[in-house]
Amino acid sequence: GSGVVRRDRFSGGPARSFLSSLSADERIFAADLEVDRAHVLMLAEQGILADDTAGKILTALDAIEVDGHDSLPDGEDVHEAIETAVIEQIGPEGGKMHTARSRNDEVATCIRYRLREDVLEAVETTLALRESLLEVADEGRETIMPGYTHLQPAQPTTVAHWALSYEGAVRRDTKRLLDAYGRINESPLGGAAFAGTTFDVDRERTAELLGFERVIENSMDASSSRDFLLETTQVLSTHATTLSGLAEDLVIFANRGFVDLADDYSSTSSIMPQKKNPDTLELVRAVAGDAAGGVQGLTTTLKGLPRAYNRDLQRATTHAWETVDAVAEASEVAAGAVATADWNADVLAAEAGEGFSTATGVADLLAANGLPFRTAHEMVASAAENGGDYDALEAAASNVLGEPLESFVDPAAVEDALDPAASVASRDSRGGPAPEAVADQLEDAREALAAD
Ligand code: ARG
Repeated sequence: GSGVVRRDRFSGGPARSFLSSLSADERIFAADLEVDRAHVLMLAEQGILADDTAGKILTALDAIEVDGHDSLPDGEDVHEAIETAVIEQIGPEGGKMHTARSRNDEVATCIRYRLREDVLEAVETTLALRESLLEVADEGRETIMPGYTHLQPAQPTTVAHWALSYEGAVRRDTKRLLDAYGRINESPLGGAAFAGTTFDVDRERTAELLGFERVIENSMDASSSRDFLLETTQVLSTHATTLSGLAEDLVIFANRGFVDLADDYSSTSSIMPQKKNPDTLELVRAVAGDAAGGVQGLTTTLKGLPRAYNRDLQRATTHAWETVDAVAEASEVAAGAVATADWNADVLAAEAGEGFSTATGVADLLAANGLPFRTAHEMVASAAENGGDYDALEAAASNVLGEPLESFVDPAAVEDALDPAASVASRDSRGGPAPEAVADQLEDAREALAAD
């Protein structure tokens, strides 16, 4: 027919492969078949297509699905190639499939349809990671470990408290993904090129057939907006940033002998026979770069695009696919690495008191015994310079305060405050590392995981 002639005239030049998204469209091949089916069924229900024609088109679509994306004829994109294949099978009548729509609303619908699946898979990976972190937390309630600020020993904490700190962040990542999902799950179909159609289409019906929550009302918005891609990629980038911190902690902990990563999540050196390196976690850390790149690529592609459809949008989509693939994989690998790592309680306990990490607890004790906290801070700082043990505290009391230590604090309580495990147990404020405080956090995290 004349449509075929026109296509040959416009798409046969040297820019043909540059123009075509057919190979990248493999990702939305299955989605496009579903969108075609829903559209054709709706057209038949509305009396826009004869039942007989609709039936032939649906049969052709089934055959095309069986043959697969690789068997499609050449085309500018999957939408055109599928239409051409339908026409090859049933003749010009197949061209009725494209009544009352455009590739613009079609592709937007396909992307949303497929992205829903991908985002739900990404959500699953965050749930698995939370599960792994909860297991580590459950086993590590009493496992004392050093806690850091500025990567310097700061205060002793527990492995459980550390693991739950990431669980809380990943829980928010899950929520952000689900929130983005709600805005992906809206149907642009029936918006046509951007300006609606003269045919009496039922947009609610195709939305329902394709499982969308609602239609996107304005047809120009429906065909041209890609903020849902940007939002999803940004949310994934936020998750990748969380993952990169988790991975970095584990790389450092492996370096210090705090944790042994499973062989499955380690790599060796091709030259140094003794090496066991945390390569998978370094790659998890690096995926934050891929995700930030995706956000940047999308933002700069979308920035300043005029209404309505512009072909730039074709290149926007791939940034989102690449980001969701990279981040979901990183999240899955992180979950596995966390679940299979062995924590070395002895090394952790030995390190927990290093660098006078109990100093804050000692200052708190002095303050609880009536000393202004600032004065206590000064006294303990002076003790820190002389080794930060009991003797140093005694010396600091007479030097800084001019009074013997035991005159204002019980020596046994001081000894206790200097012990990392006792120090942790005493920090039982809400959200703190003391085992009872952690038990509450763990319960809360379990409930949240069950609810998500
Ligand atoms: N392949 C295109 C995309 O991914 C859809 C086709 C719309 N093309 C057009 N010339 N209006 O955005």
